[in-house]
Amino acid sequence: MSSSNRTNIPNSLNEHWMPFTDNKTFKKNPRLITDAKGVYLTNHQGKKMIDASSGLFCNPLGHGRKEITEAVSKQLDKLDYCQPFNQGYGGSFELATRIAKKTPEGINRIFYTICGSTAVETAIKIAIAYHRAKGDSKRFRFVGRERGYHGMNIGATTVGGMINNVKTFASVLMPGVQHMRHTHLPEHKFVKGQPETGIEMAEDLERIAMNFGGENIAACIVEPIAGSTGTLVPPKGYLKRIREICDKHGILLIFDEVITGWGRTGSAFASQEFGVTPDMITMAKATTNGVIPMGVVAVKEEMYDAVLDSSKNPEGTPELFHGYTYSGIPAAVAAGLAVQDIFDKEDIFNRAKEMSPYFQEGLHSLKDLKEVVSIRGYGMMGGVEMKMKDKPGKSGFQTFKHCYDAGVNFKNTGDTLIIAPQFICEKKHIDEIIEKLRTGISNYSKS
Ligand SMILES: Cc1ncc(COP(=O)(O)O)c(C=O)c1O
Repeated sequence: MSSSNRTNIPNSLNEHWMPFTDNKTFKKNPRLITDAKGVYLTNHQGKKMIDASSGLFCNPLGHGRKEITEAVSKQLDKLDYCQPFNQGYGGSFELATRIAKKTPEGINRIFYTICGSTAVETAIKIAIAYHRAKGDSKRFRFVGRERGYHGMNIGATTVGGMINNVKTFASVLMPGVQHMRHTHLPEHKFVKGQPETGIEMAEDLERIAMNFGGENIAACIVEPIAGSTGTLVPPKGYLKRIREICDKHGILLIFDEVITGWGRTGSAFASQEFGVTPDMITMAKATTNGVIPMGVVAVKEEMYDAVLDSSKNPEGTPELFHGYTYSGIPAAVAAGLAVQDIFDKEDIFNRAKEMSPYFQEGLHSLKDLKEVVSIRGYGMMGGVEMKMKDKPGKSGFQTFKHCYDAGVNFKNTGDTLIIAPQFICEKKHIDEIIEKLRTGISNYSKS
């Protein structure tokens, strides 16, 4: 394709099998992004759009941050790769120390993975390894939650609770996984922040422990706020009650903070925001501002010690037979360190906290729109749910397309629009997002 081709569409779209995409429809009328700077994206037709979802919750610091790209480029010139097994390089240790300064106290051992899915898979395996290290090898069950999303490998798919993600693969899912009910109740439809009702949903964990034996359950995994199903905010007291039930039965608690981590709630982690400390935290996405894949599992020090201390393996043999070729690669670490610098220098989490009431007000101002049936949100994340039309997902996608045309980009999940602005947004950017959402949603209603 010649560079003078103004459409910027590759000659063939056939070969790339796109993830989580209606490939047939997309390829007839593609939406390609060519440039990104700050809070704006430009598409292949030269149209500028505001990024209302930080990519996929990935870029809270804005697009095209020179500090990050330069740090990565410098790192690649110096050391582009080194194998991470029984070898290493200084940067990954430095980043682990920086991450551990921001995680809740005691959760300070850092295992690098490639993405959110591999972080969840790793947390599942660490849970099993920890119980075995403590002489408790009968715990094999896991508990997830309906409408949870934890990624797409087999373990993460199984503990997740989104029906379309599991039904094709039912035959190969992990055994011994139970799901609690999700926490979204009809009366939560237009609630701002944490709902007052619904704490009793936590008792589902107690029931599962009764039915399957708490002593057989290795871990319970939840997103503190379910993100991919459209911001389901936990009822007041719910997470604390889950923690209590876990403690009663010796069940580990994993908070999947791939979305809520790194400031999305206004605190570094939702764990701190809600005052509930899990045993492991998974993270990814904003860890590198989305520019290079990286996942992380932050683990309680005592769990790390137990696994290491119980190992009777000969010298040079791993204590934990687990890891990835790309665990903590230099380019991802360089991005991660640059991101940590920006978090500190720009007081990013407080910035998110200060902007969130303004954002939430704006989001809830859309309540009057005809087809909007629910709005919920917390911090710098929110979901706007559209009235279902014929089949789930249709109205969400059509609204997304009208909003895209109106100049605001985000992702829809089913009939819910996922809105998660960047933390560098000023009030005028929030205003622009809300105004364009209003236009797009109204145009959809008229269509
Ligand atoms: C809470 C949560 N966990 C895990 C994942 C999977 O992350 P990845 O797509 O990087 O594998 C996601 C992705 O959106 C997520 O939202």
